Amino acid sequence: MGERTIPADGLLVNAKQPLPATLLNCTVATYDARVTQTAGDSAKPLQLAFIGAGGVLVHQMNYLKPVPHYAAVAVADVSEVALAAAKEKFRIPSLFTDYRRMLKEMPQIEAVSVCTPNWLHAEHSIAALEAGRHVMVEKPMAMNARDAKKMIDAAQASGKQLVVGFQHRFEAKSRMIRKFIEAGAFGKILYVRVQALRRRGIPSWGVFGRKDLQGGGPLVDIGVHMLETAHFLMGSPQPLTATASTFCYIGDKPCEVEVPWGPWDHKTYTVEDLAVGMIRFEGGSTMTVETSFAAHIERDLWNVQVMGEKGGANFETGQLFTDQGGYMMTRRRGGR
Ligand SMILES: NC(=O)c1ccc[n+]([C@@H]2O[C@H](COP(=O)([O-])OP(=O)(O)OC[C@H]3O[C@@H](n4cnc5c(N)ncnc54)[C@H](O)[C@@H]3O)[C@@H](O)[C@H]2O)c1
Repeated sequence: MGERTIPADGLLVNAKQPLPATLLNCTVATYDARVTQTAGDSAKPLQLAFIGAGGVLVHQMNYLKPVPHYAAVAVADVSEVALAAAKEKFRIPSLFTDYRRMLKEMPQIEAVSVCTPNWLHAEHSIAALEAGRHVMVEKPMAMNARDAKKMIDAAQASGKQLVVGFQHRFEAKSRMIRKFIEAGAFGKILYVRVQALRRRGIPSWGVFGRKDLQGGGPLVDIGVHMLETAHFLMGSPQPLTATASTFCYIGDKPCEVEVPWGPWDHKTYTVEDLAVGMIRFEGGSTMTVETSFAAHIERDLWNVQVMGEKGGANFETGQLFTDQGGYMMTRRRGGR
């Protein structure tokens, strides 16, 4: 039995090569990118299928290119155009307009990547889990906590793994910062500042402004990425209390300035422009979250700042801050 490490951008959950117990209970926040898995059956590629053949399928297929031991065998989408594009671009051989037929007619499928819009994540994940497949579902996990709980229950009942597509924890700088925090280099983590802020980045395509179809605005679309990365960096502490405010003051009105993505559909805009919040964790750490599609700020920000008793880190720049030898040191990873 050999060992192989899941690559930094790895998205796979392999039925034949179980991941550690941390993943089995859908505890995405405890996933460790450095996890290794036994490769007893590595000769047989993981049989992977997709539900949803839109934009994110393209991203996933590109990330999967260097990943060994998988075969993208099928894709289901209600759009024949999307299916044809997936076949042409990625040579995915079996196409279905009904995902239930795909799950039924292709028993060889071991894992399913759910790439459909937010409001379908729970339905598609639960169906795949109940059909005995491992699932990776795109972020945000679900429209609300109730649906997320149903997904976790389905995973536990099926004994299959459920992973949410939070790729930023796998970035080299995330793993480096996590390693330093885990080793105690920053001492107790006091405060973590999470920012996923756009000055004027309301998408002019899709349904990003529709609360009924998205579940929320910037918090569930972009804020969730940095929030989850920060929680991972901290070592996934248990939240105790949370408080937040949301504001809508631009998106629900016609666009009056020049914007990179063009005017959005303000008539259907029912999500927040800006969400800010604070979470207190067991152990005393505090996190603030700031996220926006539209805010009057100097520049867009995509960052996590970690402040500990003995040191800190900046996710955006990959810098580490400590006191050493009588100096305040700022360090960055060498090499590439
Ligand atoms: N991890 C990331 O960084 C990241 C990036 C982009 C998108 N996403 C997430 O991926 C999901 C999909 O986003 P996208 O940009 O690919 O959207 P998209 O609109 O480009 O693609 C969605 C696809 O789902 C299909 N679909 C709709 N209803 C269906 C159904 N009932 N059965 C089967 N297929 C159906 C559509 O026809 C479409 O092809 C969203 O939840 C989004 O938040 C994540």
